[in-house]
Amino acid sequence: MAEDTAKRTIGILTSGGDAPGMNACIRAVVRESIQNGFRVVGIQRGYTGLLNEEMEEMDKHSVSDIIQRGGTILGTARCPEMRTEEGQQKAADICRAHGIDTLVVIGGDGSYRGALALYHHGINAIGLPGTIDLDIACTDYTIGFDTAINTAMQAIDKVRDTSSSHERCSIIEVMGRNAGYIALWCGIANGAEDILLPEKYDYDEQKIVDNIINNRKHGKKHHIIINAEGIGHSTSMARRIEAATGIETRATILGYMQRGGSPTCRDRYLASIMGAYAADIAAEGKQNRVVAFKHGEVVDFDIEEALAMQKTLPEYDYKIARALSR
Ligand code: ADP
Ligand code: F6P
Repeated sequence: MAEDTAKRTIGILTSGGDAPGMNACIRAVVRESIQNGFRVVGIQRGYTGLLNEEMEEMDKHSVSDIIQRGGTILGTARCPEMRTEEGQQKAADICRAHGIDTLVVIGGDGSYRGALALYHHGINAIGLPGTIDLDIACTDYTIGFDTAINTAMQAIDKVRDTSSSHERCSIIEVMGRNAGYIALWCGIANGAEDILLPEKYDYDEQKIVDNIINNRKHGKKHHIIINAEGIGHSTSMARRIEAATGIETRATILGYMQRGGSPTCRDRYLASIMGAYAADIAAEGKQNRVVAFKHGEVVDFDIEEALAMQKTLPEYDYKIARALSR
């Protein structure tokens, strides 16, 4: 690694919604950066903590015994002030005052925008994809998604047991305000009869009703509808469907349980590899990058280019999900 890094300081924060695996990622960034000869400063509560100068130096022991823990030991926040020019200038000034020349930000697209703003104010920034939503265009994987879908899948299996026993229809609402990846993956993995996604907002409730009645005629004892948070209104939807079909219908909203819990092996593994990679590209002097997992490899992109990329829902997967549950 570069020889003149001894006095350089990396700041690290987590931002936006927390995600299982963020701790594994923090651990990797801290330990690899220290190995690379850097000083590391952990910033509490995302950009809010940065603006309040809530930070302290971390050593390799600061990240002991966290790889298996959900949430983020650094805490996270939504910080409206960081969206303003004054907030961004202040954040950059605080970084400089604390000797932070590179800030590693673990979060989603919004957090990357904050990182890009800091770069424009003279602070190098490196983003790492941390969100259960899988909604970052430049990467095939985001830290936390694997744990979230496994948590949701197991919960949906349990609802299905009771739904079949009572011959009910179940609407299960999963997270994803703007992105339907959790709903799509669980829809396929749980063999749901219907999947409602924010990307396909224009769904037809009458078709669902017809589908339920038709399936019941053909002997199906349950009917599982996975509804993404972005469509929402699961309870009122259940009332309408029950009235239209005459079949008892219940809504279950899984909520924040999907964001917590011990990360899966895949989340720990990829969070560790990507976190170490971020520390290494910082040591190489790369600037304004986001780390991504693309086609089975860890790579990095310019933040601005990454933010300009578009993610589209895989149409084939959506089509096949429906076909397989007929
Ligand atoms: P995520 O990072 O998961 O997408 P948010 O969209 O809530 O979550 O963004 C997290 C934080 O990033 C926001 O609270 C804000 O502090 C910062 N942020 C979001 N958008 C911008 C922006 N356009 N400019 C600067 N900072 C932003
Ligand atoms: O972490 C992702 C996510 O769960 C989104 O699906 C959702 O839109 C958002 O976080 C809700 O987070 P909060 O309620 O903490 O604002």
